[in-house]
Amino acid sequence: MSHQLLKGKRGIISGALDSNSIAWKVAQRCHEEGAQIVLTNAPIAMRMGEIKKLADETKSEIIPADATSVEDLTNLYAKSMDITGGKIDFVLHSIGMSVNIRKNIPYVESNYEYYLKGVDVSALSLHKMLSVAMKMDAINDWGSVVALTYIAAQRTYPFYTDMADIKALLESITRSFGYHYGKKKNVRINTVSQSPTKTTAGSGIKGFEDFFNFADKISPLGNASADACADYCVALFSDLTKMVTMQNLYHDGGYSTTGISNEVMEKFGN
Ligand SMILES: NC(=O)c1ccc[n+]([C@@H]2O[C@H](COP(=O)([O-])OP(=O)(O)OC[C@H]3O[C@@H](n4cnc5c(N)ncnc54)[C@H](O)[C@@H]3O)[C@@H](O)[C@H]2O)c1
Repeated sequence: MSHQLLKGKRGIISGALDSNSIAWKVAQRCHEEGAQIVLTNAPIAMRMGEIKKLADETKSEIIPADATSVEDLTNLYAKSMDITGGKIDFVLHSIGMSVNIRKNIPYVESNYEYYLKGVDVSALSLHKMLSVAMKMDAINDWGSVVALTYIAAQRTYPFYTDMADIKALLESITRSFGYHYGKKKNVRINTVSQSPTKTTAGSGIKGFEDFFNFADKISPLGNASADACADYCVALFSDLTKMVTMQNLYHDGGYSTTGISNEVMEKFGN
């Protein structure tokens, strides 16, 4: 159901790879809520061609950009403002990639070249997106930026390897940049800490399926779906959350504050 919460707003959505991607659902919901959006992803992801379907459905244009390239990001904002006819009101950072995870390398044996690549793609890219936007004055006053993260930034999840450290940096950039952009333009910046979700990035993690089921049984509301995450992002992009900034917001069905559930206890009963 649409409430036209984003009517008249212009947004940039990164990270829609296929219909399982969290960003894909966010793009659909933003469109439903009346926003005019631009889609972006790494040039290599475009070659798979899926994103074109989403662009048709949401009547949006696609601007390829490698989120580690300041040049690409500058082009992204310039073209987005051109296409949508004004400054941007909201940005979704939905970008994550760890070569160490992809190659199944244990945390204690991390390859540092891969580690630094993960930092650049998954965390520094947020700093670059914000810094480029600030320099170009591309985001409207009271604009909203959301980046997606995971609770492994706060607590240890051995299978999440270097991404745990990288998400901690992403969340720190959110607070640090949130201060400066807040002071300068009232732009708000938050991370949404999402439940395990069956996507390309999520399912690439060793033991993901088992952990997905465990989290589902711990959370009183069950795991939060990608669709529910999209609803939450819409709320954060809307004018109804104007004073929320520099926060790490758990969107996890209550997982983060539950010690143990009866369902999990039963598994260990005699
Ligand atoms: N799936 C989960 O369980 C889960 C849980 C919490 C948080 N997250 C986070 O949600 C975000 C989106 O991931 P997803 O689960 O939807 O998976 P996904 O694989 O669908 O999305 C990841 C996206 O990152 C893009 N990307 C990779 N390198 C890039 C680059 N250099 N420049 C631009 N884009 C690049 C990919 O093309 C892809 O579209 C990530 O930050 C992820 O860590 C996922």
